[in-house]
Amino acid sequence: MIQAISKTTAVCLLVFAAMIIAKRAAAQVPLSDAAIYQKIEAQLKQMTLEEKVGMLHANSSFTSAGVPRLNIPELTTSDGPHGVRMEHGRDWSTDNDHVFDSATYLPTGVCLASTWNPKLGFEYGAVLGSEANARGKDIILGPGINIIRSPLNGRNFEYQSEDPYLVSKMAVGYIKGVQSQGVAACAKHFLANNQETERGRVNVLMSERALREIYLPAFKAAVTEGGVYSVMGAYNKFRGQFCTENDYLINKILKTEFGFKGLVMSDWGAVHNTLEGLWNGTDLEMGTDLMGAPYNKFFLGDTVVTLVKKGVIDEKLINEKVRRILYVMYKTNKFGGRQPGAFSTEAHFATARKVAEEGIVLLKNQNNTLPLGTAAIKSIAVIGVNAARLQSQGGGSSQVRTRYEITPLEGIKRIAGNAIAVSYTPGYEIVKNGTANQQLIDAAVEAAKKADVAVVVGGWTHGYNNYSWTDNAYDAEGTDKPNLDMPFGQNELIEAVIKANPKTVVVLMGGGPIDVSAWVQQAPAVVQAWYAGSEGGNALAEILFGQVNPSGKLPMTFPKKLAESPAHVFGEYPGDTVNVHYKDDIFVGYRYFDTYKVEPQFAFGHGLSYTTFRYAGLNIVPANQSAVVTLTITNTGKVAGAEVVQLYVKDNVSTLRRPEKELKAFEKVFLKPGESKKITFSLSKEAFQYYNDLKQQWVVEPGAFIIMAGGSSRDIQVSKVVELK
Ligand code: BGC
Repeated sequence: MIQAISKTTAVCLLVFAAMIIAKRAAAQVPLSDAAIYQKIEAQLKQMTLEEKVGMLHANSSFTSAGVPRLNIPELTTSDGPHGVRMEHGRDWSTDNDHVFDSATYLPTGVCLASTWNPKLGFEYGAVLGSEANARGKDIILGPGINIIRSPLNGRNFEYQSEDPYLVSKMAVGYIKGVQSQGVAACAKHFLANNQETERGRVNVLMSERALREIYLPAFKAAVTEGGVYSVMGAYNKFRGQFCTENDYLINKILKTEFGFKGLVMSDWGAVHNTLEGLWNGTDLEMGTDLMGAPYNKFFLGDTVVTLVKKGVIDEKLINEKVRRILYVMYKTNKFGGRQPGAFSTEAHFATARKVAEEGIVLLKNQNNTLPLGTAAIKSIAVIGVNAARLQSQGGGSSQVRTRYEITPLEGIKRIAGNAIAVSYTPGYEIVKNGTANQQLIDAAVEAAKKADVAVVVGGWTHGYNNYSWTDNAYDAEGTDKPNLDMPFGQNELIEAVIKANPKTVVVLMGGGPIDVSAWVQQAPAVVQAWYAGSEGGNALAEILFGQVNPSGKLPMTFPKKLAESPAHVFGEYPGDTVNVHYKDDIFVGYRYFDTYKVEPQFAFGHGLSYTTFRYAGLNIVPANQSAVVTLTITNTGKVAGAEVVQLYVKDNVSTLRRPEKELKAFEKVFLKPGESKKITFSLSKEAFQYYNDLKQQWVVEPGAFIIMAGGSSRDIQVSKVVELK
């Protein structure tokens, strides 16, 4: 009896469970691509030519039209890469103050990359996707994945790295995170938008090898590994053709070679020609400046209807574009099934904080100046405009209006509490072409003298005021930095403060390197704090006081002098306004510094910790054009910490010249004091190959390769030679 009851119960339970699973599956299983295309074909059959063409261009500043008659909705896009942008309404409304749109301001791209933690990339993307979703957006216009080629590029803060492998790993996490929320990511700017100077017309010339090895891999990974649903064409030209209308880049490489199924949208105002746009890959034209004319006057507007009717353009080409747009609509659940998003939640701000904690980089720490012991310190002089300045709305289209943003000063005050007196003085002022202000320096020196510790928070600026990005904005869209010199007399300030108080910590904010040569020898501690998002001030303070052990690593080389950066050594940057020839070729970033034996200020991958690590037991088992690498990493210090174990590969002898080393794998390892962990890297043939542009193909040449592991490109701890057949 007992058995019978339990059998019946078991069967009932099983049936019940199966019903629940089936119901869930019905609600959740996404349509297969085949099913999606079937639906699309049915929709296409019902659409008039005018309705199809209506979908190929914007119908407001950030939307494109659907077909209301057939229940095809509009698509809504939104900047940007590190937070959903303030609401622009349907037409760049300036009257948007009433809109509740205070998003989470995530650390900018370069800070995310400094975490070297792809899992955080996913969490970051998921926050963005969730907030985009909650705000009714379908496509988030990020990640920005252009290679950091020159430290002068005003948009480096939005991008990630000089290294294609690192960008690829972080971008894939980000894209999957965004798209896990049922909205689309948009990989931008395809391709070679590596400078803002003359971005609207400069023609980028580079070798096929540089294209394949340096500038394409992140976009390839975005498509083939990340499954990104949309890609934005860049403003600039590539080999003579605008990127948005570039047959080789879009039709041949992106859509054919990489098998990209989603839509290619133009950057805002980047389409220049109807036929080229149609033939060469643009699916959706955004942002064209019509000087007040209606949206159907876009290049991909009414003219297209006329051209099809005249027989110049085959309607099949229009169908192909509409098919891609509808595909993205299905993938983003525009026809039903979208889960609600969440906006500005505690959990989202917690992710922002985590990314900042792991992204801020400790560049120098002589005599254990950091962490600041709260018991030993009674007073801190905080100095510098960036200590008290809000950054979220700087920088151009990636600006974010956030619910809150903790400045470094606020973060320091929070931890200092009543136990430590914190004073603040700006030390310099942001004025056009501003030089040192002696009065402000004197006041800072006085404050530094009186305090146990001075913390100078300076570096670049993001925008002169909250909305303008053209005036004194060094990290901003539409402009590049004139040089790497510290603006507003900060060198004089820092030198004077260090003299007044040798226990001075310099915190640099910005999207990349700045020339620190005037004072770096004297400064006992230097921290790179980027633009670290809503919780940046808290994260910085936690690191300064040792509540968080820093684990960020530089995603780009910091040169000693601008003139020593490859784009500036070999030329060309920024080109002659018509062309820019990437003569630095594949020798971008550390590939140049290490091959040409140029000492950087701070190396690619560099970042200190409050603990120490030991690398041991490097073992390599080669196989067919591949190898399995194992090593053991141990935390040999007294506090818990994380090390980014970086694996570099060098081809000992090759037909074409190769860099001294190239990053081919990495893992962030979290270890308690005394703890060891064995880690394994599987290197496939991608880790050993290079692009031979004479053969027009990737090649792995047999022979000896050196495998190196360490904490930066200049801190190789263990290495071994492996012979590949
Ligand atoms: C930028 C894009 C941005 C777009 C829309 C352009 O100026 O280059 O990155 O997504 O504007 O704001």
